[in-house]
Amino acid sequence: MTDLYAVLGNPLGHTKSPLIHAAFAAQTGQDLTYLAVEAPLDGFAADVAAFRARGGKGINITAPFKVEAFALATERRQRALFAGAANALKFEGESIIAENFDGVGLVRDIQHNLCVPIRGRRILLLGAGGAARGVTLPILEAEPAELTIINRTVSKAHALRRQFSSCGRIVSGGYADLGPGTFDLVINATSASLRGELPPIADAIFTRAGLAYDFVYGKGLTPFLRKAGQAGVDRLADGVGMLVEQAAEAFEWWRGVRPATGSMIGKITVPLV
Ligand code: ATR
Repeated sequence: MTDLYAVLGNPLGHTKSPLIHAAFAAQTGQDLTYLAVEAPLDGFAADVAAFRARGGKGINITAPFKVEAFALATERRQRALFAGAANALKFEGESIIAENFDGVGLVRDIQHNLCVPIRGRRILLLGAGGAARGVTLPILEAEPAELTIINRTVSKAHALRRQFSSCGRIVSGGYADLGPGTFDLVINATSASLRGELPPIADAIFTRAGLAYDFVYGKGLTPFLRKAGQAGVDRLADGVGMLVEQAAEAFEWWRGVRPATGSMIGKITVPLV
């Protein structure tokens, strides 16, 4: 029997997940169907219950339901626990198991696909919302020399530092604290690019950076990536590789087989112009 999976979010208009998972299934010979379900803002739990009743085996979760999905789970894996949010659930009997692959997807894209090492490097992470919290532990596990977390609401950056301070060397602050850059890698985990906005950063933060990475994907050159390029950063990347890599992690978790990701990243990449 064909196994059933889905992505749940609201809105879902832009989702590439069904395309990605259908291609992974074809590539690995897995018999599954993957749907897109736009759950009502107040109806996530009901839609999950209905999906399980149909025999659903697992779901991906996107905004704004990641924290609700985490709360719904009966078991939570370490990465979901640290993120306080789930981007994948697996249904096994009565169990709902929560995972979060956003951070491993990011780290794999940076290190494996873009061939930029994190170990021993100085990383600047802009933002301290759910997206930033979801990637903090996997970045620290890659052993940077130092992770600097900067946020508009400074207290949230400090809270993230306190939460993860036992996992690596972290500095936190606000944009006004950002001096001339000593960062090798600058990552934009704010939601600013979604609205065509730019966090209040100066060109100088990019002085040493070899890579600027924006979580937002499919929008071409975001204001952040444009600024980085103008400041002289050689390599610019949006979040398309992170999207495909987290999908591959979830696919492997559900199906026990890891799909290759390179051709899919190439297929859905929007040129950064
Ligand atoms: P997500 O799940 O995408 O992380 P979120 O939890 O609402 O969404 O967090 C959004 C992040 O983007 C926050 O760090 C937010 O800063 P504040 O905590 O100060 O609100 C940041 N952000 C959004 N728009 C921004 C902008 N124009 N400039 C700087 N930071 C911005």
